[in-house]
Amino acid sequence: MSLPAEFLDDLRARIGLFSLVGRRVKLVRAGREMKGCCPFHNEKTPSFYVNEDKGFYHCFGCGAHGDAIGFVMAQDGLSFIEAVKSLAAEAGLAMPEERQPDPETRRRAGLQDLLEAAADWYRTQLAGVSGADARAYLERRQVSADVAARFGLGLAPDSRDALSRAMMAKFPGLEPAQMLDAGLAGESEGRRYDRFRGRLMFPIHDRRGRVVGFGGRALGDVEPKYLNSAEGPVFHKGRLLYNLHRAAPAARKSGRLLVVEGYMDVVGLAQAGFEEAVAPLGTALTEEQLELAWRLVPEPLLAFDGDAAGMRAGLRAAHRALALLKPGRSLGFLALPPGQDPDDIARNGGHAAIEALLATARPLDRFLFDAEAGAAPLDTPERRGALKARLKALAADIADQDLRRDYLSTWLDRADALFRAARPQRGGGPATGARTGRGQDYRQDYRRGQPLPPPGALAETRAMANTPSEAGIAGILASLAARPEALAHHAEALAHLNLRTEALALARDALLHGRDPGDVLAGVTPRFPADMDETEFDAAIGSALATLAQLHHIGSEKQQPGDLSSDEAFARAFERRRLLAEEREDARRRLTALAIGSDPA
Ligand code: UTP
Ligand code: MN
Repeated sequence: MSLPAEFLDDLRARIGLFSLVGRRVKLVRAGREMKGCCPFHNEKTPSFYVNEDKGFYHCFGCGAHGDAIGFVMAQDGLSFIEAVKSLAAEAGLAMPEERQPDPETRRRAGLQDLLEAAADWYRTQLAGVSGADARAYLERRQVSADVAARFGLGLAPDSRDALSRAMMAKFPGLEPAQMLDAGLAGESEGRRYDRFRGRLMFPIHDRRGRVVGFGGRALGDVEPKYLNSAEGPVFHKGRLLYNLHRAAPAARKSGRLLVVEGYMDVVGLAQAGFEEAVAPLGTALTEEQLELAWRLVPEPLLAFDGDAAGMRAGLRAAHRALALLKPGRSLGFLALPPGQDPDDIARNGGHAAIEALLATARPLDRFLFDAEAGAAPLDTPERRGALKARLKALAADIADQDLRRDYLSTWLDRADALFRAARPQRGGGPATGARTGRGQDYRQDYRRGQPLPPPGALAETRAMANTPSEAGIAGILASLAARPEALAHHAEALAHLNLRTEALALARDALLHGRDPGDVLAGVTPRFPADMDETEFDAAIGSALATLAQLHHIGSEKQQPGDLSSDEAFARAFERRRLLAEEREDARRRLTALAIGSDPA
């Protein structure tokens, strides 16, 4: 029997704790409280205090603690209910009637049964004779029967009311309004119809694994492509993440969680053996969804489609996350090739391709910086100033003070480094290759017991900085050749691009002067497709050129002077090297992401 909280509060308020306890224990005043020798253990000096205002007793000797009900339970050896009855009789309070579950709880339980039954019925339809086309569709999309079963996929047949009839038969008292509440039916001009018709059905569960709604994918060329349950008493799409209940254990174990855009991405990933993926339900990520993801792992990885919409969704999530950041929790962003979603990648490349995708993760601060830096040219002091202003405005959204400060200084430093890198070299060309005598310094580091960047890191950095693949760069130039109207935005960055081969440099110069770039780019596949939307194309080119400039900057960074005589000089040189090693790692990731990584040679 459960008792209403108000009744218990009322009961406690009516019982004078001093008089109740005072009948068993001799109490004396001690300020606002009374004290006595504890009845729960043996003692000579009083350490048992009773606070009537707060309604509890506490013994500093043995830790006994409780309220009036607890006191009677312990003293008289009664159960909770017995103690309540005894106190109620004493206080002259009638015991409340046995409490019924409230109507809202009952209604939800009814809807729950209905939703589970609907999910079962959809599954049966997919398995039956009429499910042949839908099964063929799944097969074409390389979803195995096993994975389909694990996700409980089903089929809503193309019928006005087949589900409603089946549910009426199963639940004789079912009222039409319940089908509406469950989000399974609609009504138009007084006629009710099944909401999902001719669709592949994805049951959507809450955190505890209860079916709360569905997403339905059109099997043919029908709009909308995806349809969700209507919002109702149990289905709130902003508070749910698709597949959360299955992904949670896997994510806790691996420490990774992928947030993707679509149901099919989640299913495709599972098909490739990657369980820890969730998706919002066709809307931008909400704060609640971010919080759900953060409960599982400190840095969920967002893998949004490699198109303009996906980029916008990523930026929106990034902006939303800023206000919610706390030390230790953030987001990562994966770089998907243009025009591909995680489902495509999983289907074409399997688990290995997903692992490779995970390696492209960029932290939130990097992601936002790159997006801002790539958004507009940085060729004048005013434009550079505008970038810094945008970064400051973004950082201001961070609620956590320490993080806000760190973000701002990190971003401004990075902006300065980018500006320096984009500036034409004064005197002397870029440094190339490792200087001789480097081994000496490393030996010194080693003697001092410092953690070392791997030997050769610097030489490697420089070599790599000068070797984003020729084909990759040619691909970027070819993209620009196909969309000369975009050239104006990037002329500056393009002009400063450090190109290793004469041929590429000539092609670049031709582009800049509006001439035909000639044979070099003939037959080269543009890195970014010509039908990309304009903003997206600009951002992609901007980001690629910024990465190349950053790489060049790392490569041409002057060595610290050989003077390692003082500890400070040594520490500076060492720190510089460590930073370069970090930047190198980062650059490597970005190269992979842009698919312009080093030539195999
Ligand atoms: P996408 O259009 O990216 O679909 O929508 P997808 O995941 O690649 O699906 P397939 O591969 O074509 O089957 C991503 C998500 O956006 C929501 C759905 O949640 C979908 O999973 N969406 C999409 C809608 O809610 N309505 C739509 O009409 C389209
Ligand atoms: Mn897809």
